Amino acid sequence: MTVTYHREQELGIITVDNPPVNALSHAVRQGLNDALAQARNDDSEAVLLFCAGRTFVAGADITEFGKPVQSPSLQQVNERLESLGKPVVAAIHGTALGGGFELALCCHYRCASPSAAVGLPEVNLGLLPGAGGTQRVPRLIGPQAALDMITGGQKITATDAAGLGLIDRVLEGELKPAAIAYARELIAGGAPLRRIRDLSVPAPGFNQNAFDEYRKQLGKRKRGQQAPQKIVDCIEAATRLTFDEGLAFERERFTECVASEQSAALRHIFFAERTAPKIRGLDTAVQPRPINRVGIIGAGTMGGGIAMVFANAGIPVTLLELNDEGLQRGLALIDKNYGITIGKGKLSEQEAAARQARISGSTDYHSLADADLVIEAVFESMDVKRQVFSKLDEVCKPGAILATNTSYLDVNEIAATTTRPEDVVGMHFFSPANVMRLLEVVRADKTADDVLATAMSLGKRIGKVPVLAGVCYGFIGNRMLRQYGREAQLCMIEGAAPEQIDRVLTSFGMAMGPLAVGDLAGLDIGYKARQALTAEQKGDPRTYCIADALVEQDRLGQKTGAGYYRYDPQTRARTPDPEVLEIIQAQAAQHGVQQRELSDGEILDRHLLALINEGFRILDSGGRDRPTGQRY
Ligand code: 3HC
Ligand code: NAI
Repeated sequence: MTVTYHREQELGIITVDNPPVNALSHAVRQGLNDALAQARNDDSEAVLLFCAGRTFVAGADITEFGKPVQSPSLQQVNERLESLGKPVVAAIHGTALGGGFELALCCHYRCASPSAAVGLPEVNLGLLPGAGGTQRVPRLIGPQAALDMITGGQKITATDAAGLGLIDRVLEGELKPAAIAYARELIAGGAPLRRIRDLSVPAPGFNQNAFDEYRKQLGKRKRGQQAPQKIVDCIEAATRLTFDEGLAFERERFTECVASEQSAALRHIFFAERTAPKIRGLDTAVQPRPINRVGIIGAGTMGGGIAMVFANAGIPVTLLELNDEGLQRGLALIDKNYGITIGKGKLSEQEAAARQARISGSTDYHSLADADLVIEAVFESMDVKRQVFSKLDEVCKPGAILATNTSYLDVNEIAATTTRPEDVVGMHFFSPANVMRLLEVVRADKTADDVLATAMSLGKRIGKVPVLAGVCYGFIGNRMLRQYGREAQLCMIEGAAPEQIDRVLTSFGMAMGPLAVGDLAGLDIGYKARQALTAEQKGDPRTYCIADALVEQDRLGQKTGAGYYRYDPQTRARTPDPEVLEIIQAQAAQHGVQQRELSDGEILDRHLLALINEGFRILDSGGRDRPTGQRY
């Protein structure tokens, strides 16, 4: 039984029990419908809606989207709930998300544990709340806060939600008995049947212009995305239509979103991100090793960011550098980064200080003796990595995991420099490490299963999406990006200007275009890497000759004020540069390429297909472990 109903004296108690997250599957909706029918017909004076397990209802069952809706729909359940002739109290623990929070909004009162959170994250799936969320939330908290909450899709803590008026009471102690006491208090006080649908939207000063301005801003922040704009339409509708008209308006937009390619893709990603950390063929009895203290070698671009990731997750870190100067430089960068986050209002000074206090610096390898995991992030040189791993082999305790953040080097070769290759694994973070969610866990030939299991579960613990990669040049992300960058070079030599390529890809939704990214990172990095390759390894010269020509003319990107673009030395604002077109034309002539006009559609297809094709090649070469990458 996914939903049960029982009486505790004058109270009717509905319990949803549909592990793992109490999603609103057809069985749950049917169960709720039946329980509400029982409650309507008995002499209970109020009803408590409670969930078993780790959370309140976390939303509609995403696996059911795209299939015909089986009755009762969530809207029908909500209607029955809201029109029940006695007060219903939602008791929230864990997370009440999406349709789950919409269900709670149809209850007449909402109470929650202090650790609970609520939210309408549908936008992250290319959807909008389709069970009244866009109509009820603005009635409770006004259009501005509703726009921020629903287009942002973030969770709100119970305390903040109570401050906004989304939750009526935060209850200390064990939730169920506290919620029962709260329901009894409501009965005793003759609490009225409060229905959000009966409220009007408080909209002082919020007019058509304000909605249009919001749409414009959102268009910049969530470029190319349909759902956020439709959310604004729905909230605007709430300010001008009756409640039932608003619901119908929302329903239509929700149906359009469910049928959209954007939502299908984002729903695919939702499940793919949850499937990726599961390692096929790994014995489920394998237990991860405990990780309570981490060491990081190298306090440069990556090491500093990785240290922040662990400190943010509450895990103490020792950051090791070659000398005091390097260490102080690294620690100062971390300090600056926390300062920026505080400045943006995303972190309190107190919390930042607590996180920074978890990072200690050292120049002595012996300070890593008690680390459970050490991640190496020193220069990308096999000789340097060898030295570091031999040293780690000497000082680290037995069972410590030794990880490398190398981007391209052979993890088997690194492992072979130690007497414990079974403890060696790749943990490849992306830059900036404290922001980017992807973590490639690279399995070398001798990596032990429990080391892999540890890296995967730790990845989740520190808020990353871990994926398994095999040992190969560039693993997964960089291998795919290489083909993407290669296509940008080919489009340029064939006749597309850098600004056309970047415009097409940013309009599609990429945060930056590939050439602006190149200028930001510095064109000399790829140039130096190419110098170490043979002509055969470098491949077709048309895929790098423009980049080489720019570097050879000292156009290294933003840092020299010129790369694929020209940069204002003060503001860093970029402008297209006719000199670059001349460089491109000269290279085209030198390599016998007849230039032509490329359509935006061709540019988009070629870049996306380059990513997709390489993705499939990686899958093909992955062998038994799914998404991995071929061996050397
Ligand atoms: N439907 C179906 N399955 C779901 C689900 C959902 N809404 N939410 C989570 N799951 C599944 C996951 O796929 C995973 O399955 P697996 O164990 O087989 O891989 C399992 O539940 C556990 O999920 P997580 O690994 O994500 O567990 P966490 O504890 O890390 O996180 C959570 C829990 C915060 C609830 C997170 O799962 C989450 O954010 N879920 C999605 C919430 C959401 O987007 N809700 C809105 C849905 S759309 C909607 O409600 C439309 C409505 O407006 C009409
Ligand atoms: P970096 O040059 O910014 O930092 C390297 C740091 O390591 C320097 O501070 C240096 O002083 C220190 N160092 C060098 N040898 C050392 C030793 N023996 N002991 C202690 N410290 C030592 O380099 P970055 O960019 O942080 O790269 C580090 C590693 O991460 C490389 O393997 C790189 O391929 C990889 N990587 C880099 C990414 C990037 O975007 N920069 C992304 C993902 C991985």
